[in-house]
Amino acid sequence: MLEALNEIESGGLAELADAGDADALEAWRIAYIGTKGKLRGVMPMMKDVPKDQKGAVGKRLNEVKGTLESAFESRKTALESSPGASGPAIDMTEPGIVDAQEVGRRHILSRVREELVEVFARMGFGVAQGPELEDDEHNFVKLNIPADHPARDPIDNFYVDNPDTTETPRMLRSQTSTVQIRTLETAVAEGWGPPVKIVSPGRVYRPDTVDATHSFMFHQIEGLHIDRDVSMSDLKTTLFQFARAYFGDDAEVRLRPSFFPFTEPSAEFDMKIALRPGDEPAWIELGGCGMVDPNVLKACGLDPDEWSGFAFGFGIERLAMGKYGVPDIRMLFENDIRFLRQI
Ligand code: DAH
Repeated sequence: MLEALNEIESGGLAELADAGDADALEAWRIAYIGTKGKLRGVMPMMKDVPKDQKGAVGKRLNEVKGTLESAFESRKTALESSPGASGPAIDMTEPGIVDAQEVGRRHILSRVREELVEVFARMGFGVAQGPELEDDEHNFVKLNIPADHPARDPIDNFYVDNPDTTETPRMLRSQTSTVQIRTLETAVAEGWGPPVKIVSPGRVYRPDTVDATHSFMFHQIEGLHIDRDVSMSDLKTTLFQFARAYFGDDAEVRLRPSFFPFTEPSAEFDMKIALRPGDEPAWIELGGCGMVDPNVLKACGLDPDEWSGFAFGFGIERLAMGKYGVPDIRMLFENDIRFLRQI
């Protein structure tokens, strides 16, 4: 019987240490010290204990009982005082601390992108997408940018494959003009266009040194309208309407003659803005535009005698800076909460 008592004592203490909540504790109580528990279970063995040992065994029985009962009490106290044991420690009916409930919102660049897509959608432009990991066919060749053009210099691009040893090297796209090619190729292959009238917002990458107006990654929104008899005046009307819709009726914009390999004629689109309150408004360049070069149409399998169109590509950061008076492009990427709260 002494052996049985020893076993109950050591087993009981070990199991008690594992009882982690009120239910486990109660189950343990019933199993060990309850009226049908193990301790009660060994009591009938008392009658088989030789008379001269009854006193010692009885003493041991009381000892084990005492040990288990006081261990039970202290385990119970420990569990009750630990958080969560006596129900939720939080009073769910208490009102919340209002200051801590800050409401988040979309990043300024996401909002500007959506606003731009929305303005162009009202003018009949759909949205097209293209990959950021491109190849030089789409970033350069089909955009009429010849192999010896300075824009293709490996120093000025993020090539993924070596352009000297790879036939069609992959690169991070340096302009969203790639989507002009991708969309026209798909339209021709699938037979749903032209007419094609799309804008395409997205990221572009150039190994530029970061300063107030440059970043190695920024966003552009490309526009493309191909149809029969699209003219330069359609381009001008579209861009001037866009500027008034986005910046307000008094927006001062101008087209300035320029050159791009994929448009002929080409122009730069400028707007007069003061980026800091109190500054004299100055002309800043929003992007390039022009009439799609016949070579680009041919590269996409279109007959330039039948189809014509215009294209444009604007920097989304520039547009955001102009619209919200942000003087430094880095502010758009640093995600300083004090800046983000202001716009
Ligand atoms: N892709 C040009 C750039 O990144 C911008 C541009 C100019 C896009 C003229 C056009 C365009 O679609 O017609 O500098």
